[in-house]
Amino acid sequence: MANPTRPKLTRSLRLGLLIAAIIGLVTGLFAWHQVNNEREIDLEDVTRRAHVLAQQLSERAAQALTLPDTQARQALRPRLEGYQRLLGYAVFRANGRLLAAGKTVTEFAGKLDGAVREALRSGKEVTLLLRVTGMRVHVLLQPLPGSGPATGVLIVAHDVSFLDDRALARLAQFAFWVLIVTLLAVALVVGSTWFTYERPLHKLADWMRRLRTENVTEAPPRGLPLGPLRSESDRLAASFRAARSTGKALSEAALHSEQVWTPDRLRAHAVAALGEAHQLIVVSNREPYMHQWRDGKPRAIVPAGGLVTALDPVLQVCGGVWIAHGAGDADRATSDAEGRLTVPPNDARYTLRRVWLTREEEQGYYYGFSNEGLWPLCHIAHERPVFRAEDWDHYRHANRLFADAVLEEVGDGQAVVLVQDYQLALVPRMLKDARPDLRVGLFWHIPWPNSEAFRICPWGAEILDGMLGADLLGFHLQQYGNNFLDTVDRVLESRLDWDHFAVELRGNRTLVRPFPISVQPWSERHVPEGEELAQQIAGLREQHQLGDAFVAVGVDRIDYTKGLPERFRAVARLLEKYPQYRGRFTLVELGAPSRTHIPRYREHLDGLEALADEINWKYQTDDWKPIHFLIAHHDAQTVHAFLRMAPMCIVSSLHDGMNLVAKEYVAAQGLGDGVLVLSEFAGAARELADALIVNPYDTEQFADAIRLGLEMSADERRARLQRMLLQVEEHNIYRWAARFLTQLAAARTAGSEKVSSSKVAVS
Ligand code: F6P
Repeated sequence: MANPTRPKLTRSLRLGLLIAAIIGLVTGLFAWHQVNNEREIDLEDVTRRAHVLAQQLSERAAQALTLPDTQARQALRPRLEGYQRLLGYAVFRANGRLLAAGKTVTEFAGKLDGAVREALRSGKEVTLLLRVTGMRVHVLLQPLPGSGPATGVLIVAHDVSFLDDRALARLAQFAFWVLIVTLLAVALVVGSTWFTYERPLHKLADWMRRLRTENVTEAPPRGLPLGPLRSESDRLAASFRAARSTGKALSEAALHSEQVWTPDRLRAHAVAALGEAHQLIVVSNREPYMHQWRDGKPRAIVPAGGLVTALDPVLQVCGGVWIAHGAGDADRATSDAEGRLTVPPNDARYTLRRVWLTREEEQGYYYGFSNEGLWPLCHIAHERPVFRAEDWDHYRHANRLFADAVLEEVGDGQAVVLVQDYQLALVPRMLKDARPDLRVGLFWHIPWPNSEAFRICPWGAEILDGMLGADLLGFHLQQYGNNFLDTVDRVLESRLDWDHFAVELRGNRTLVRPFPISVQPWSERHVPEGEELAQQIAGLREQHQLGDAFVAVGVDRIDYTKGLPERFRAVARLLEKYPQYRGRFTLVELGAPSRTHIPRYREHLDGLEALADEINWKYQTDDWKPIHFLIAHHDAQTVHAFLRMAPMCIVSSLHDGMNLVAKEYVAAQGLGDGVLVLSEFAGAARELADALIVNPYDTEQFADAIRLGLEMSADERRARLQRMLLQVEEHNIYRWAARFLTQLAAARTAGSEKVSSSKVAVS
């Protein structure tokens, strides 16, 4: 049975009652003492009066005692009765016998024998108090002198009942005031302890509970009564938070490290996913290392672009062959007769197999169909796609060359082939037609448009058919996959499996999945750190005369999809709207020229230079300009130094499959506090929600977002960056590759079962 809970008095009420009881007791005792004192004084008064009266009568009484009884009584009678409080007199002889008494005294004279004897014996005055029929009586016994011992005793009796009444009245009065004082004391004590201690302590307890359970960030409640307690609570909170955040950091770090994919982990995983017999082959248009003549010597450069950034570390870990177009003017000179070389230069990890294209082939396939047709078709950047029949022919031919190169590399063996991007859409089908047993994955690095947009492509069905030779088709976002399936549904006669997000066409089943691509940790890339980095940054600041300006950095291929005019205009608007940033804010745009044989790209580059000049001309001063447009191929070390130096990075794509610069910036900043301003139309915005998300077309909002980043507190910047860092570190390129390989293995297994079961049915 549950114990009935006893109502609890609050501490302050208990304290109040205790103090009230003490006050009550002390003042009660004092009152009692006071009343007694006053009563004693009154009694003394009565005694004095009785004494005076006795003196007045003693002579006559002494004379009467010399007479026989009858005469003596007659002599005394007229003087024996009293008046009001004086009850009367009595006279006793020396033998203790009552001689004469007033009427009232006669009633209690019998009670006086003992006192009479005492007075006679001692010869001294005796007083006593008697209670007689409800009356309090004061009696004075005065021995009457003679020549020897006392000759008798004279009695004077007073009614002193009034003394009790007066004492009672005084006590009642005291009790009343004691009560009032006690109540006031209780109220005062309860109130003051409640407000001074109990309430703040309740608040403190509540705050501590919330600190423990809810991770509150507010300061301890104010108004704590004791200085040390207040300062201790501050310290307690600080150490509690520190402990909690350390604990959280430790557990997150533990979880994080469990979840972070490393090169070793991917290597082990790849062996399992690929199987011993399978070699890994990557095929893309763009090569990971391109050789160009510089001062008569071939120099290796790493081309700008997300594909290379993402896949080179995977190949370095897993090994294998990367087949790509040899586009560098020194590429032939640096490859063997079959176009092979090992890379990275000076640290061979895998084989690069270059595919040679004639200038016409490159023009039609790469510049023409890929980048004047498919590129604007897939990006909503309001650039009209151009489709030319001869480009299409070159595209098919070039895809055949890449497919043949793959088949040559595979030989009779087993392979997992990862086909990359829109330049090679026909390769998966070509591979499957030749070798149905190959595992083929296709990753589409750019967005996929909606079906209406795609339908304008004259060879849309062929493109889709080519892609659906793959076992696994990856996009950055689910939305692109949705668009793709919808497009297939409208354009092709195929079997769509919406439940499993798969398409079956000509005996091949293609799974369609999102794989948001990512980056390699900077720590693995041999970039300067510490003092070396500080010197590099100082050198760059000096070289570009950046002074102590707040630097926002942009790193892009110079492409109309990257929203560079929009970015420049937002900077101009910032300076126009918030003039306080003139002389203090600088955008450093690291622009890598790209696809410059396409007139639209050349126009775009020219237009951008003109726009940057116009803005600089308007605002620049002798030692500052708002936009540093550095048009060049920047190596990884330089890009890294700028990403580390800049407290802000701006990515303003009008449409972008992912945009790895956003992730590179977050990874480079690491434990720093940089702000990322990121277009909502870049795929990265889905993962990096802590960036300042902008619509690059909205110049006003864009400029305000830059200002917000400039004025954001360091704490908030750091908190946002840390959340993004966690995302980028956990979802790194190794995890991307591992997921793709796992899914490809699974897709292939499911596909094989399907194909073989249909074969059984046919046979
Ligand atoms: O981001 C899309 C993409 O085609 C990537 O595949 C490639 O890394 C990048 O653009 C660069 O383009 P290009 O190879 O034409 O220089």
